[in-house]
Amino acid sequence: MAILPPTAANIERARAQLTAGGLVAMPTETVYGLAARAVDSDAVAAIYATKQRPQFNPLICHVADLAMAQAHGVFNPTAQKLAQHFWPGALTLVVPRRADTPICTLVSAGLDTLALRMPSHQVAQQLIAACDSPLAAPSANPSGRLSPTRADHVAAMLPEIDVLEGGACEIGLESTIIGCFDTAPLLLREGGIARHDIEAVLGEKLQELPEHGEATAKRAPGRLARHYAPRASLRLNQSAEAAQRDDCLLIGFGADAPDTAAANLSPTGDLVEAASQLFNVLHRLDDQAMRQGQSLAIMPIPEQGLGAAINDRLRRAAEPA
Ligand code: TXA
Ligand code: MG
Repeated sequence: MAILPPTAANIERARAQLTAGGLVAMPTETVYGLAARAVDSDAVAAIYATKQRPQFNPLICHVADLAMAQAHGVFNPTAQKLAQHFWPGALTLVVPRRADTPICTLVSAGLDTLALRMPSHQVAQQLIAACDSPLAAPSANPSGRLSPTRADHVAAMLPEIDVLEGGACEIGLESTIIGCFDTAPLLLREGGIARHDIEAVLGEKLQELPEHGEATAKRAPGRLARHYAPRASLRLNQSAEAAQRDDCLLIGFGADAPDTAAANLSPTGDLVEAASQLFNVLHRLDDQAMRQGQSLAIMPIPEQGLGAAINDRLRRAAEPA
């Protein structure tokens, strides 16, 4: 409906809409989220309907601080350590639900766990504080599409939703998700904080689940959904020559990218910069490719640091529909 500058009056307007059971898109430092009050099961159901999201895929709850998180989830020492070190920021912790949490079970899609994150973006923090309640918020895109990193991406994909303006998302990739249960910590999704940095704080390796299987369906149901896809087809690990031969719009990376590339995620080869540009470049070039009847191609991205999360998104984006 509208892109709203984050004035006190508009934060109040958003709070009133949420309290009345509505949905509002809010900026975070990772990507824009489509928010509802996590205790309001009708509003949470509206998130699933608006995104056309499969109901087996649970939502992240955004909290004001660790105390709010611990009122709803059970934090073991590992979870506490990670929250103390990385919050506010791009880290989501999946922990057991507290038996007495008023957060609706639809948020967890029927699982006995809860995903919690304290975002650092000032507008998200102000909105959560104003609501005095955790906000359930998946990325503000129709299920399977690219995540939004600017308010106008949300407005283009979900035109019926009010969006609080928060500028371009600084990190530009969704949060890293870690499962903290009674076993070793599990890396459930690569994201805006590199695995190495988390392992350095914990002093232990993160465990992983297989891509498919029963444990994965229970612990990382999001892996089963198709994700992050542009409408145009996307080819990975392409050379400049192949892209030119096949008339693809080429997304470059680093100093070796040719001048003919349609974009460069980072001319200096900086993976943090590339992460922050990824979805923005994909949104822009996808529009152009659709207008011109072309495909997209991208040069290889190194698998180090945030490159692992970038390549995770790209592999899913390149899967045929
Ligand atoms: O950075 C982010 O994480 C953004 C911003 C808005 O916070 N949110 C986001 O939400 O990426 P979404 O819905 O696009 O992705 C949430 C992921 C899904 O893969 C979902 O399966 C997983 O979190 N998830 C949520 N609750 C879970 C749970 N209880 N157990 C395992 N995975 C969970
Ligand atoms: Mg998403």
